[in-house]
Amino acid sequence: MDFLKEKGMPLEKQVKSWHEIVKRPFNRELADCYTRTRQILMNGIEIEAWGFKHCWVRKMDDPELKKLLVNIRRIEDIQQTTINWLTPYNQSVLDTTLGYEQVAVDLTAWLAQNEDDSYVKETFDFGLLEDFDHLYRYSQFANLVDDVDPNIILHESTDVLIARPTQYHHNSNAIRIRNAYDKNKANAKTKVNILTLISAEQQTHNFYAEHGFMYGNPDLKRLYAEICDVEEEHVTMYETLVDSNESPFEKWLLHEFTELCCYYNCYKDEPDERIKLIYEQMCQMELNHLHSAIDCYQKYEKKDAVEIIGDKMIYPCHFESQKEYVNKVIVNEVNKRVDKDGTYNTVDKLDESWPSYKIQEAVSRDGAPSEQAINLAINSIGRDVACADEKMLKMQGDILEKSLEKQKAPNTISKKQYDSFRDVCPKSYLY
Ligand SMILES: [Fe+2]
Ligand SMILES: [Fe+2]
Ligand SMILES: [Fe+2]
Ligand SMILES: [Fe+2]
Repeated sequence: MDFLKEKGMPLEKQVKSWHEIVKRPFNRELADCYTRTRQILMNGIEIEAWGFKHCWVRKMDDPELKKLLVNIRRIEDIQQTTINWLTPYNQSVLDTTLGYEQVAVDLTAWLAQNEDDSYVKETFDFGLLEDFDHLYRYSQFANLVDDVDPNIILHESTDVLIARPTQYHHNSNAIRIRNAYDKNKANAKTKVNILTLISAEQQTHNFYAEHGFMYGNPDLKRLYAEICDVEEEHVTMYETLVDSNESPFEKWLLHEFTELCCYYNCYKDEPDERIKLIYEQMCQMELNHLHSAIDCYQKYEKKDAVEIIGDKMIYPCHFESQKEYVNKVIVNEVNKRVDKDGTYNTVDKLDESWPSYKIQEAVSRDGAPSEQAINLAINSIGRDVACADEKMLKMQGDILEKSLEKQKAPNTISKKQYDSFRDVCPKSYLY
């Protein structure tokens, strides 16, 4: 696609009828798992595109520009409805939650392998292990509460296994603030990659904050509260990679370009012909938004947008199974933490004054919900719900041991318990 030449669909044609806005959902069991992850991601991308324009317009006194942004953001909102409501009514909150964490794992793994900036890549790998562990914790409840095999949703494309335990994801926010890229040196791909991940993590946070109370089980509610707090940290971590000196016009350009690149990537990859057509139409709409942003950047800042977004498409959201890459990161980096000075360190080298100890002690002193999930599974089926190859399954005790801190929640599962899972069939959750 030559996005600098193609102008897309005129804005006045982008207002649709309700029948065109609300489309038939995909099928909960039959849809490809990555049809679901693309849809979840694009919902997050639209929410970010819409929210950004609201924040900006609130501080704006240029009537002409205000009118344009108000018109475009209404379309972002309509696009968001179309995309999010492709969710089938019978996809439970926990089903959708597994989808959200599958997005986080496989998207972050893709981005980490396609990121030129080594510091940004390291940050992606660090977050990846945490979302991977969230998927493991939620999978226990999907089985215990909804009687769901996680692979109904994951299609065995993503493993379910312990990583850095969720009780260790709660940090002093001060140490989660990352170093920002320099807007004049970072390339367009780095900027688009980061904005894509911010959008995904922000929407994951919002979904948990809005839906965690929908289960009566207090342990599950507490798990949503616990992981919601981690997603808030993830938004902080990825958001602070962005140079705060970017002007609103630069940010607008990057938002529209990210939307276009993501939709185009989805259009290229989507096997469901009906949904592929929706992505094609969305690309046409985003092309128009992007050209508004390009024109305004030229008009208000007298600069050429190509300096910011380049002249080539970027592929920020290709989904495929990433088991091999993820396993490698688990084995090598499960004991990694962010130290006081913002650099990475390993658990064994943290000193007594590491600021996250205080936070972790405060939030887990009555027991960590993420450990409770495994305790409940042990009481029910004699082990955890875990899906991976035999070698990884047998390593769970060692992964835990490598990641344990000197401090732990009172209900923490021991290495001995993990090792005892070897005697119970890993499919026992399918009773
Ligand atoms: Fe949009
Ligand atoms: Fe997560
Ligand atoms: Fe996350
Ligand atoms: Fe847009």
